[in-house]
Amino acid sequence: MDKICSIGHRGIAAEAPENTLASFARAIELSPDMIECDVRHTKDDNLIIMHDPTVDRTTDGSGCVAKMTLEEIKTLDAGSWRSPQYAGERVPTLDETLALCKGRVRLILELKEEEIDSSVVQAVRNFGMEDGVVIASFYDKVGLRLPNLSTRLVFKRLVWRYLPLTESESVQLVDESAALNASILGINYQAVSGALVRASHAAGIKIMPWTVDDRENMVSMAELGVDGITSNNLRLLLEVLKDIGAES
Ligand code: G3P
Ligand code: CA
Repeated sequence: MDKICSIGHRGIAAEAPENTLASFARAIELSPDMIECDVRHTKDDNLIIMHDPTVDRTTDGSGCVAKMTLEEIKTLDAGSWRSPQYAGERVPTLDETLALCKGRVRLILELKEEEIDSSVVQAVRNFGMEDGVVIASFYDKVGLRLPNLSTRLVFKRLVWRYLPLTESESVQLVDESAALNASILGINYQAVSGALVRASHAAGIKIMPWTVDDRENMVSMAELGVDGITSNNLRLLLEVLKDIGAES
């Protein structure tokens, strides 16, 4: 079995409040290959880590991230909603996340907004982490702009699809991804087929499905030949990869 890249989704979201330093630190303890997190900007143009456009679901506050200052967001509790054990956990900035992860784990930074790409790349450069970060986005423009930034960051194309792709659909998707300079194709695992893996590899593009949280689907993704798996349940993923001889 070829080695498969293990990716902790939002840190280790199955065990800790997603997209917090506590979640990233807990994931790092397990030594995954990568951690994925989501980047947005605040009203005063700071970059923070949060999945949703509002703070409502993952903090004790309410409101749109883009209409709040960093100072306001930093007053919020981003841990109690998950467990009292994490009370007082704060929403991290991108810089705090880069500082924690530098030299410990590679990061997938998913840009949840398309206009923040140059600020994110600048932050990565400031930390000298060009080799330790993958830029991901659902926004095609992000991929098209990155090559002009003379950076080693790579782009990850993400699409929504819930049935295994046919051969012609696979070729079309891979062609679109190649045109966007993608080096990795991130996709819902339910869309992955043998045809898609073959087409991706023929184009020199790695395929890393998300978000796979049960053993059966982890094994079936591995059998299809994917290059990486993203999971909320990083602990289980690492156990499964070890069991099947695919840990990297
Ligand atoms: O890794 C890809 C995945 O994170 C995309 O979906 O909604 O969890 O950000 P979402
Ligand atoms: Ca994400």
